Amino acid sequence: MTVLACSGLEKRFGHGPRAVAALRGVDLAVGAGEVVAVVGESGSGKTTLGKAALFVDPPTAGEVRWGDLDPRRLSPRALREARRRYQLVYQNPFASLNPGLTLREHLVETARVHLGLRGAAALDAADGALARMSLLRRADARPAALSGGEKRRATVARALLPRPDLIVADEPTSGLDAAVKTEVLGSIVAARDARTAVVLITHDLEVVRPLADRLVVMYHGRVVEEVPGGDVGARDHHPYTAALLAAARWERPDGPAGCTPPAPSGRMGGGEAGDGCAFLPRCPRAAAAGDAARSCLDRHPELRAAAPGQRVACHLAPPAGRPERGKEPTPWPR
Ligand SMILES: Nc1ncnc2c1ncn2[C@@H]1O[C@H](COP(=O)(O)OP(=O)(O)OP(=O)(O)O)[C@@H](O)[C@H]1O
Ligand code: SF4
Ligand SMILES: [Mg+2]
Repeated sequence: MTVLACSGLEKRFGHGPRAVAALRGVDLAVGAGEVVAVVGESGSGKTTLGKAALFVDPPTAGEVRWGDLDPRRLSPRALREARRRYQLVYQNPFASLNPGLTLREHLVETARVHLGLRGAAALDAADGALARMSLLRRADARPAALSGGEKRRATVARALLPRPDLIVADEPTSGLDAAVKTEVLGSIVAARDARTAVVLITHDLEVVRPLADRLVVMYHGRVVEEVPGGDVGARDHHPYTAALLAAARWERPDGPAGCTPPAPSGRMGGGEAGDGCAFLPRCPRAAAAGDAARSCLDRHPELRAAAPGQRVACHLAPPAGRPERGKEPTPWPR
């Protein structure tokens, strides 16, 4: 069953020549209980995609379906009810917590609004949610007294309390140390056991790679690759994904000797490449291809099947199932 289906999502901020096209025709489908990681550099459109998919900031164009519901057609009341099943953990958890409320009060309020619980039943639900996130002993603390990791776990506890069909967690591990990261991610992915699907938005490819059923790579407002999580590093990737992998490998203590860091990235990555491929100014594959890269300049590449479960948007991707000669991928060390 598909819990989320987005097609052709576009989002523009502002008008006229200064408008920013943050999404440029994004398709995303998420199945029940699936964990999908959305990765890409700063400004690639990850947060905008999460907010558009959950109608927190609706898309300018394109279709969104929550199961068989079209959120655009729901009455305000029906939309509020449907939101119980589609939860967003914001990139900035601090702004989404009320400084005057204790953790328990936050969770009781969620139990009241989304589950219609009152009194002892709401308290039980709140304490259960806090206990699952190892936060019960902090139940009476206000946000100012919590560590960064505790605040993030609190926002995840709040999102999971209404037993949603999907949570979109936007950079849930940013700024956390390794042990707390693992704890936070573990708790989100445990939600999968309860059939909650998860979209994990992150810069941190290395952290989500072992957890994700599928990796979606965004660049410049578009999806440039989709690949099964288990195949990351063992397939021929889009040149941008390859650069992200090289960066992650380079940062690993056991990274390959001689591996160079990626090219520095600017906001929105490459230039505004007109109809051509936005990655062209940074693309080593196009640079090596000479005249064969003319199509990269002329039109933007559509996503197309590259291997089972994998789609890549690159004119010069090798034919499906056949790696580039001499460039057979090195399996990622597990
Ligand atoms: N409210 C807004 N008004 C104007 N431009 C915006 C707004 N929100 C996002 N943008 C622009 O849209 C583009 C995509 O932003 P978005 O926040 O989705 O990127 P991101 O991939 O989540 O980046 P980060 O990794 O830094 O969180 C950026 O160029 C950003 O400046
Ligand atoms: S389409 Fe061309 S510029 Fe774009 S990623 Fe592929 S080779 Fe590079
Ligand atoms: Mg973001």
